[in-house]
Amino acid sequence: MSIIYDSELRLFHLQAKDTSYCLQIVREGYLCHLYWGKSIHHFRNSVPLGYIDRGFSPNPDPEDRTFSLDTIPLEYPGYGNGDFGPPAYQISQTDGSTVSDLRYKSHRIYAGKKKLDGLPATYVEQEHEAETLEIELFDTVTGLSVTLLYTVFEEFAAITRSVKFHNSGKDNIRLLRALSASVDFRDVNYDLLTLDGAHTNESNLCRRKLHPGTQSVESRRGASSPQHNPFIALMSPEATEDHGEVYGFNFVYSGNFLANVEVEQYGTTRVSMGLNPFDFAWHLEPSETFQTPEVVMVYSSEGLGAMSRTYHSLYRTRLVRGKFRDQERPILINNWEATYFDFHADKIEQIAKSGKELGMELFVLDDGWFGKRDNDKSSLGDWVVDQHKLPEGLEKVVHRITSMGMQFGIWFEPEMVSPDSDLYRAHPDWVLHVKDRPRTTGRYQLVLDLSRKEVCDYIISSISSILSSASISYLKWDMNRHMTEIGSASLPPERQRETAHRYMLGLYYVMEQLTTLFPDVLFESCSSGGGRFDPGMLYYMPQVWTSDNTDAVSRLGIQYGTSMAYPPVAMGSHVSSVPNHQVKRVTPLSTRGHVAMSGNLGYELDLTLLTDEEKEMVREQVSTYKKIRKTIQFGTFYRNLNPFMTNEASWTFVSTDGKQAVTGYFRILSKPAAPVRILKFKGLDPAATYRIEETGEIHGGDELMYAGLTLPRMKGDFLSLLFTLNKVD
Ligand code: DGJ
Repeated sequence: MSIIYDSELRLFHLQAKDTSYCLQIVREGYLCHLYWGKSIHHFRNSVPLGYIDRGFSPNPDPEDRTFSLDTIPLEYPGYGNGDFGPPAYQISQTDGSTVSDLRYKSHRIYAGKKKLDGLPATYVEQEHEAETLEIELFDTVTGLSVTLLYTVFEEFAAITRSVKFHNSGKDNIRLLRALSASVDFRDVNYDLLTLDGAHTNESNLCRRKLHPGTQSVESRRGASSPQHNPFIALMSPEATEDHGEVYGFNFVYSGNFLANVEVEQYGTTRVSMGLNPFDFAWHLEPSETFQTPEVVMVYSSEGLGAMSRTYHSLYRTRLVRGKFRDQERPILINNWEATYFDFHADKIEQIAKSGKELGMELFVLDDGWFGKRDNDKSSLGDWVVDQHKLPEGLEKVVHRITSMGMQFGIWFEPEMVSPDSDLYRAHPDWVLHVKDRPRTTGRYQLVLDLSRKEVCDYIISSISSILSSASISYLKWDMNRHMTEIGSASLPPERQRETAHRYMLGLYYVMEQLTTLFPDVLFESCSSGGGRFDPGMLYYMPQVWTSDNTDAVSRLGIQYGTSMAYPPVAMGSHVSSVPNHQVKRVTPLSTRGHVAMSGNLGYELDLTLLTDEEKEMVREQVSTYKKIRKTIQFGTFYRNLNPFMTNEASWTFVSTDGKQAVTGYFRILSKPAAPVRILKFKGLDPAATYRIEETGEIHGGDELMYAGLTLPRMKGDFLSLLFTLNKVD
């Protein structure tokens, strides 16, 4: 890993593990992109920019028709003087002009990586783990200084980027667009991969060939959203799970984003990512600074699998923080699908007791424990215990459960308020709203205005008081509607379009405070399931409820898709009852167990209603998971079979010491005249021998990977197998 500056060529060569990224300052200070891809030992610029007279392209120097911003790969393109591609940024001056012109001013290279003020970001523990390059670009007319930040990591094929705007001029500047990264590829021959979906249907893989013009995914919902995850990848057309070049982009942010790809006129492709410029503007007064969130760019020359493994290890070790980062996560029982709002203290105690008997470790009391919350029509914001359901108060209930040897966890939806709540009656101005407009509800609730400090402080104090009132070890942080009427009563007119981003800064502030105040509480984020499954959330909360869809078959795709960028340890994954509540499918308990054991295992059903036989199977699942938990949660993840392309799914987890591997195999529908099925494993040590604990067979790693393993004949729908391989030599 290193960052080298060649002052003669005015060329920057950024080397992360296995990847090089090169930039050059050309002519009168234009910063251009030269190369991103596989590591290059010495980059002496074998691919200089070609200057060609291109018909109608504008020329900064009228005497030189070969030089035009229209045809060079600008690293941080602006608007108004010749680059007609998607700009990375745009400003408006007090005179109404929206033109600017950034030129290289200075740079510095240093060991380590600085924090981004108020924003989540990857980090280092020791300075030698990374190197950072800051390049300052400057617009002389306005005094706008734009610093591009790049960090390369020693251990990861990852480069992070973000941008700092500083108004060093005399007049106000309005940022209309402030993306975090823009990369010009010198080719158009790529496929675009995105993760798309909806509530209960997150992270579907969508791969398509790039075509001329713009293709993009974005969120205008005030949350990163289940509709489009803030992740995209460009793939060479022949790239597969294990071969070919892949370029991943993932935005460390939980609100509105834009991921845009434009195939341009002369065979180039521009990828840009950052805050969604839609309904965004930021008022920058003289000497004020604006920092954009971070984009994590990952390169792989070995397909999607290697790209995902880079994201997983980077996020698991250098994005997630706190004591749970490296700690095995408890197996939980959550009461939501068991009782919904209809419970009382005895009922939840019975469920917790059954969980304890079956080996579970944490009971989670979901929605409905506060205010007068017998349905979803009231009480959000009133974080006081409902004395009808829990007459002895929370402390007693928690005590009854913890004295069984179970940990206790609790649900909140802190960012919301019900119109029918004491909080809303006292502070009707504390919600996002626009004067004289109706306040649109969603799930009967409004969104608190987290751009306001007093609202953030209310959330911090009300949650703190519950967390301090009893021995609570876990908090589920839910968020169940998107934003409408985005405006703040506390911001002046010229700052109204800052509201959505200020909300996110407020949210991150609240999360920073609470996770610091309660370092021993395990936080799980949730937005109607995986509606905010993004790296921004992972920085504060090490796990996420992956989907409100708990159907095992649906979960194959959801978890497979989510694993493109996010590690399995982050994926909350529960066994629920059948017929499944979301899709009414009936799947075997063993399959539900194997799917849920492929992530962060939990249960979400009324355990007291299980038959003895079912209880035995659950007990067995819980005890198996404890034996493989380290491998699943901290191991290396390989995808074997893709449920979006086949009738099967399969994946393998390999422990960090390489001594254990766990493979899940899932066959969706039963087919007539099915061929004998051979499964090829991945990630094993070819020189080692493994015992398959479930069958007692002993095979070489090479044999299992290259010849494969013949699977038993399976008749019936929705069946699965789990193989635990332990090294025998
Ligand atoms: C949506 C979440 O995703 C569910 O798991 C559950 O917590 C409900 N909200 C509660 O209202």
